[in-house]
Amino acid sequence: MAYRNLEIAHRGAVRTITVNRPDKLNALNRDTLNELTLAFAQAAQDDAVRAVVLAGAGEKAFVAGADIAEMNAYTPVQAQGFSRTGQRLMTSIERLGKPVVARIQGFALGGGMELAMACHLRVASEKAKFGQPEINLGLIPGFGGTQRLLRLAGRSAALELCLTGATINAQRAYELGVVSRVVAPEALDETVDALADQLAAAAPLAAAGILDAVLQGGEASLDQGLEFETQGFALMFSTADMREGTNAFLEKRKAQFKGA
Ligand code: COA
Repeated sequence: MAYRNLEIAHRGAVRTITVNRPDKLNALNRDTLNELTLAFAQAAQDDAVRAVVLAGAGEKAFVAGADIAEMNAYTPVQAQGFSRTGQRLMTSIERLGKPVVARIQGFALGGGMELAMACHLRVASEKAKFGQPEINLGLIPGFGGTQRLLRLAGRSAALELCLTGATINAQRAYELGVVSRVVAPEALDETVDALADQLAAAAPLAAAGILDAVLQGGEASLDQGLEFETQGFALMFSTADMREGTNAFLEKRKAQFKGA
């Protein structure tokens, strides 16, 4: 289907979803949230898609936040719906069951940082900038920022970034555990492509099991998390991919995973 605010590209088993409103620094208005929700649902359903890259068009921004012009006129009820739509999108990305990599070349502010944090891995250019500047607008984050930043980087960093609205560079975001890799701007595409290819070639059911165990475990007690891991581990023994992976090792050849 054709999107007004997104570009979709395919490279092998990797689908790239690009927010495409560069004149507004890819700000997330309602239409864009709805289109992203649909694009991720399609990626989830398509068995040919094994990994997703999420990007922002242009040089300047991954996503510079929720659309301030649109929010400016919202009633509280509309704001509640906007927040819920954004939160549902972020949760659907986190629970996609396939690895999602954010490619961050510039500003990832507010809703942009929240969108990046909903992805499983974040690769940033040295020029990228992160922050939760909502407080400067008399607002608080509304797409999960207070909660995901807390879980990714801890209470101190979450409070400091949200309370000051400060913008931090990619290196600081890396030190805080918000970003997985920081690379030179000219190495960004190559790094993201190589990582996405590696994730797409991995056994898909095992990848889904790892995503599930880590995400569920983050919200559970250690005992519950360990039990969840055991169930996932045992389930893998019902898959052809597990037989293929172990056989390939024993036969000294490269495994071919089919997602079955
Ligand atoms: N919502 C709506 N429009 C936005 C936007 C947002 N979050 N961020 C940028 N834009 C728009 C600007 O209004 C401008 O549009 P215009 O050309 O029609 O006036 C265009 O994108 C370019 O942005 P501009 O501010 O001119 O670029 P800059 O290089 O001077 O500054 C930023 C870049 C990111 C520092 C600045 O755009 C900014 O602070 N954006 C808002 C960040 C924010 O508070 N996000 C959280 C929202 S909850």
